Amino acid sequence: MRLIAGTHLFALISLTAALDNGLLRTPPMGWMAWERFRCDIDCHDDPQNCISEDLFRDMADRLVEDGWKELGYEYVMIDDCWMSKLRDEQGRLQPEPSRFPGGIAKLARYIHDRGLKLGIYADMGTHTCMGLPGTTLDKIEIDAQTFASWGVDYLKFDGCYSNPLEQMLGYPLMSLALNATGRPIAYSCSWPVYVGGLPPVVNYTLMGNICNLWRNYFDIQDSWDSLQGIVDWFFNNQDDLQPAAGPGQWNDPDMLIIGNFGLSLEQSRSQMALWAIMASPLIMSNDLRNLDNGARAILQNKVAIAINQDPLGIQGRRLLQEKSRIEVYWRPLANSASALVFLSRRSDMPYLYHTSLAKLNYNPGNYGVYDVFTGSTVTGLNTTTLFTISINPSGVVMWYILPEHSKKTHTHHHLHKTASHFTFL
Ligand code: GLA
Repeated sequence: MRLIAGTHLFALISLTAALDNGLLRTPPMGWMAWERFRCDIDCHDDPQNCISEDLFRDMADRLVEDGWKELGYEYVMIDDCWMSKLRDEQGRLQPEPSRFPGGIAKLARYIHDRGLKLGIYADMGTHTCMGLPGTTLDKIEIDAQTFASWGVDYLKFDGCYSNPLEQMLGYPLMSLALNATGRPIAYSCSWPVYVGGLPPVVNYTLMGNICNLWRNYFDIQDSWDSLQGIVDWFFNNQDDLQPAAGPGQWNDPDMLIIGNFGLSLEQSRSQMALWAIMASPLIMSNDLRNLDNGARAILQNKVAIAINQDPLGIQGRRLLQEKSRIEVYWRPLANSASALVFLSRRSDMPYLYHTSLAKLNYNPGNYGVYDVFTGSTVTGLNTTTLFTISINPSGVVMWYILPEHSKKTHTHHHLHKTASHFTFL
């Protein structure tokens, strides 16, 4: 045991550089089984929805045929409950044969043949959260090698059934083991969740050095309450969390639940908008075979996606929480652009919110505004101009904003003719 600990310490000390796999320069996009399909292993009574190779092939087909892939949704991710209860004779994890008769390598080929990538799930500990074989410290290397040999492109490494010391050793060791395979494998760490998600217990500099993304907080459930709890926690702790994010290293507030049962259309827009502001992974967990057009349009909104995928990779912040229960969120983007989200926490009626870009810390000047969900535009919006927007209960107004350069004389002229207050409804 002393010897093993010594080896691990050496590994930790040699971990000085950032996780240098070049992956996820923008947040990952794709689909993951867990929130929608959980640990449904009942292929007898529920063949369409059980965790099996058919489910992942179906989702891969949908991603390719329904326009998702070309928008950037490229990962198909297996979560818990893919494994057999026993490792094979060589000590390797193996898929449950009745549900994955072709094996993971074959599924990876199917997914790669369609220009997509495959994600898989393992757990740092004795068991996965659902009780299947875990990856104890002595199994890290063989599991990394097994995933690489199958052609896996992404690993979600959960942390049930381990203690903080094992986590402190295991998460960096898996990072090294994945790098050592020579296959680029994006690495998602659940470590922060298991130790409270915040400094000083969580070292976000280390996290950025060893993981491409990490789960900070509890699992999302299919409800607006769950979503609001996550949003509150992330933005209440933005001073700790926001600086941790950047190209190749992302906070993960968990899956998109748009298209399921718990969110209204307004609330679905709110999730998309806030996940774009947070530079969060856009990992849907829904049934792509049965998606209504409202949910589809929100998830496929090109401007919301472009804001999420902005190349600067700066996570946004909450600017204001008004007594009126309107909140304002902001994210700086490449080319001096920015995004604003006005969120209503009200439950009465559309609220008329009065503000100006100056009140939201914008530099003096004129701006062009594109409303992300309605498609309407305004040009020549001066920072001093008071405007009014209408925000639906539990909904958002989301703006993409660009400064208007080199049009000074024109805009001055325009402004003289414009009332100093306009309503943007
Ligand atoms: C944990 C994770 C979830 C999911 C389940 C699977 O709760 O946080 O995202 O992976 O385990 O059992």
